[in-house]
Amino acid sequence: MTVKPLKRNYIGLGTSPHDPSLAIVDSRGQLVFAEDTERYLQNKRAWCSPPDDFIRIAKLLKEYCEPDAEFVIASSWRSAFFKRLQFFSFGPFKGLIKRKIGAENYDMLRCIASYANVRHGINTEAHLQRVFGRRPVIRREYEHHLTHSAAACYSSPYAEAVSVVIDGLGESTSCKMFHFRNGGHLPISRKPSEGSFGQFYSFLCELCGFDPIGGEEWKVMGLAPYGGKNDRYYGLLRSLLRIDGLRIREGRHSAAAVRQLLELRRRPDQPAIEFADLAYTGQLVFSEYVDELLSHVHALNLSDNLVLSGGCALNSAYVGQLAGKGPFKNSFVFCAPADNGNSVGAAWLAYHQDHPQAWTPRTQVQSPYLGSRLSTDMLDKLLRYGGLEPIKTGGGPELYTQVAEELSKGRIVAWVQGRAEFGPRALGNRSILADPRRRDVKELINAKVKFREEFRPFAPSILAEHGDEYFENYRDTPYMERALRFRPEQAARVPGVVHVDGTGRLQSVKRELNEKYYELIKAFHGLTGVPILLNTSFNVMGKPIAHSVEDAIAIFLTSGIDLLVLDNYIFKKRALGALADVDAAAGRSPSTEDLSRTPQAAVA
Ligand SMILES: [Fe+2]
Repeated sequence: MTVKPLKRNYIGLGTSPHDPSLAIVDSRGQLVFAEDTERYLQNKRAWCSPPDDFIRIAKLLKEYCEPDAEFVIASSWRSAFFKRLQFFSFGPFKGLIKRKIGAENYDMLRCIASYANVRHGINTEAHLQRVFGRRPVIRREYEHHLTHSAAACYSSPYAEAVSVVIDGLGESTSCKMFHFRNGGHLPISRKPSEGSFGQFYSFLCELCGFDPIGGEEWKVMGLAPYGGKNDRYYGLLRSLLRIDGLRIREGRHSAAAVRQLLELRRRPDQPAIEFADLAYTGQLVFSEYVDELLSHVHALNLSDNLVLSGGCALNSAYVGQLAGKGPFKNSFVFCAPADNGNSVGAAWLAYHQDHPQAWTPRTQVQSPYLGSRLSTDMLDKLLRYGGLEPIKTGGGPELYTQVAEELSKGRIVAWVQGRAEFGPRALGNRSILADPRRRDVKELINAKVKFREEFRPFAPSILAEHGDEYFENYRDTPYMERALRFRPEQAARVPGVVHVDGTGRLQSVKRELNEKYYELIKAFHGLTGVPILLNTSFNVMGKPIAHSVEDAIAIFLTSGIDLLVLDNYIFKKRALGALADVDAAAGRSPSTEDLSRTPQAAVA
């Protein structure tokens, strides 16, 4: 009798101290689940939280793995890295290390090293064997930057590419490059970079008065277009790093420049807008650094396709500049290019290690809708006990038409459908939506829904077939991974989603990737002639995107959102909505005839 070999399912763990995540790849190599730990914890970035806590991992594996599959647990980071951290933090040289890096940094180091202790204490294998019977559980680990590259390359449309990982740090370097070919990663250079573009940007974030630990680099990007180049800042920031071929080195006078820059640091009582020049100049210097490095990589003549990953690939302003500029003809960024994507990379690396011949170039873009569904049980309870009297629609055109009409009347809509998006951006399944034709919409959502800084822009979701009509150098941008410049004649039609520099961090929406969201925008287009909706993540400042029915209701009831759409149910507030209030106060019908009102008038 022959014994049928067990199928294997691959459990990827992103085990960085920040942005941990879990992913599952099935026995055919399909990515069937991926989610940030922060979502279910509702704790931004989930610092030092294990992605494989016992109760959650067993539940997820029961739901998403194939029955009777054996498990391969694959994690990002070599454990030697964490052991080194533990040695530095708790070993015989801890006093010396503390003096060298300063008390504040040392506390952070100890915190991360303690997380490493927790990680080593978690015996996921034994737990899964207990829950699922005596199935073997295999453990593998992969180098951090390789998992970045794998997540990006295996989800990209390219048969071959140059893969550049630009990060804060890794086991031994901040930056790594691979030639991706035939499903394998060939390292391009093994020399480590001691300088770091990721740390450069975190430092810039700190100088501007924001918190890189909280992941507030977004704010620098949002603030930069309000400023201009400052020659003094430029000189200091340029002297922090230098590019030496394929390596990032520290600048020869970087210590003196750091000291001078720290004197410029924004104090809590200073308005952010006064630091727009610093943000602008920093973003400019960052772009020049990356340009220089990429030009050296491209000069190797390996490929015209660029796959960019690592935390710096979240810089959508820079990624947008790559379109139509070169030196690479094509560029790709995954929906989760930072450390949360490493669970996906680790799971895919483990799969391809077992199936070296299985790789074929992808024919369709990887869906980002990989996370949890809403609990139907909790939705039933809400309908039964909530006393909110929602409108039940039959879904389909009935739902799209009703919601599109409300949007066109100026209502702010929270739109929750299907599986959550993987990565930091809401892509039409956990989104707050509004009419982009309203000039006042940005100020209103910032003030009454997101409770965040007025300088931060909102993104446009556009039907992909209209992309070229609205944007210069248009490229399909399914994950909101790049900001492109609006064509000037079209920008005036959608002022609510045009940033001060004329750009928008767009999402190209195609039916094959998200039918419901596509049909909703199409219904809005049919009513208004505009194929765009304002799309921002369904959260409030400082919190992760809503994960459960309870999160959705809490945000709905404690913010200026007018409508909440959960699946096919529309929950409405009795009072007119935030935008509609303004119309009512002015004695007008809540429509969009007046598209030119000032933000001040709108929020008064
Ligand atoms: Fe990383």
